[in-house]
Amino acid sequence: MTSLYVVDTLAEGGQIGAEEIVEAAVRCQRVEGDFVLGVSTGSTPGSTWRALAGRLGESSVDTGRIQAFALDEYLDIEADHPESYRAVVRRQITLPLGLNPEKVRCPGDDGRDLQAPQRYEQAIRDAGGIDLQVLGIGRNGHIAFNEPGSSLASRCRVAALAEQTRQDNSRFFSSQEEVPRYCITQGIGTIMQARQLLLIAYGTAKAEALAAALEGPITAAVPASAIQLHPDVVVVADRSAASLLVHSANYSALRL
Ligand code: PGA
Repeated sequence: MTSLYVVDTLAEGGQIGAEEIVEAAVRCQRVEGDFVLGVSTGSTPGSTWRALAGRLGESSVDTGRIQAFALDEYLDIEADHPESYRAVVRRQITLPLGLNPEKVRCPGDDGRDLQAPQRYEQAIRDAGGIDLQVLGIGRNGHIAFNEPGSSLASRCRVAALAEQTRQDNSRFFSSQEEVPRYCITQGIGTIMQARQLLLIAYGTAKAEALAAALEGPITAAVPASAIQLHPDVVVVADRSAASLLVHSANYSALRL
C-alpha cells in the first residue's frame, strides 16, 4: 500500500520525512528495544536528515536506542575519504542526529573479505530487521546500488555500478574516473524485508524513474518497481518528480 505526499519544497519534504521517522521510532521504542533505521546517502535525503535532527530533540525518541544500517558503500574507497558512505553517514546522520556511532553500521565496515556482505545481512537480522528504510531512487530506477537487471530477490552482495550512476555520482568526485566501480549493497530482497519504506524523489530527472517504479510493470529492469509488492510504502516527491504519475489519485492516501 502506497501513501504519496506531493510537496512544493525540499524543506517541506524533509519535515514530512522526519515526521514519518519520528512516528515510527516512537511506535517501535514503545514496544521493542531499539528502533532500527535504514539510512541512505546521496543528495535526496539531506533535507530529511536536517529536519530530523531538529525534530528528534522535541520528541520522546531516545536516540541512544536507535540503530542505523546504511544501504550501500563503495567497495574500493578508504573510510576516511570524504565521499565514502561511511564518512557521509557520519557527517550527515550520526553526528547531527546524536546517534551512538557504535550502533551505526555501513556495509563492509568490518572488513572487505568475501563474507562481508553476508555478515552485514546477518547483522541486520540480528538487530531484529529494519523498522523503516529511507530510500532515494536513481534516474535509472535503482534503489541502493541495485542497478537495472538486479534480481528482485537479491541480498547483500558486491555489485557493479552502472555507468549512468558513476556519471551521476561524479559530482561528488574530482572526475568520473575517480568514482568507484564496485560497491557492497543491500539487495532488493533485503530492502523489501524492512517493515516500512520511505522513498524520496525530487526533481524532473527522477520523474520517469518514479512513474516506472510506482506504476509500471514490476521488473528487474526497474529495481525500484519491487516496492509495489511492499505492504507499507510512504513516498515523498516534489511536483516535478511526481509529474508523470497518472494513477496517484488511487493511492491509499494522497496529500497534495
Ligand atoms: P541522489 O541519489 O539522491 O544523489 O539523486 C539517489 C540514488 O541514487 O539513490
